[in-house]
Amino acid sequence: MIYLLGGSGYVGQAYQELFTRRGIPFRNLRRAEVDYSHPEKLVAALRADRPKFLINAAGYTGKPNVDACELHKTECLFGNAVLPGIVAEACAAAGVP
Ligand SMILES: NC(=O)c1ccc[n+]([C@@H]2O[C@H](COP(=O)([O-])OP(=O)(O)OC[C@H]3O[C@@H](n4cnc5c(N)ncnc54)[C@H](OP(=O)(O)O)[C@@H]3O)[C@@H](O)[C@H]2O)c1
Repeated sequence: MIYLLGGSGYVGQAYQELFTRRGIPFRNLRRAEVDYSHPEKLVAALRADRPKFLINAAGYTGKPNVDACELHKTECLFGNAVLPGIVAEACAAAGVP
């Protein structure tokens, strides 16, 4: 089974469609379900499910468009730089590529 973050987004939905079409088992980990910005929560989920690997398609892209990243710098930095670091550290701790 493959773990997917950001499955509701543009890139994440494309992954979900691909996996579904090819019959590849996956779990779309939604933020509402497991707040994976907390590393200990992501580590616990990874240790429980033992996915083969994780795909991170989560990120802050700005609404209504990318120009919003200039205004919302904190969200942009967190979603695109801090969060990937948290995910990488959680994966390393759980031994998940
Ligand atoms: N779209 C492209 O053409 C493209 C090209 C190259 C790279 N990328 C990169 O790929 C990643 C995803 O892009 P996308 O276009 O699929 O984005 P998107 O449609 O805006 O989807 C972003 C996803 O990230 C989740 N998410 C998790 N933590 C978040 C946070 N702190 N802030 C905002 N969203 C958060 C959202 O979850 P919720 O549903 O819970 O809000 C949502 O599912 C981004 O890093 C982007 O820069 C995209």
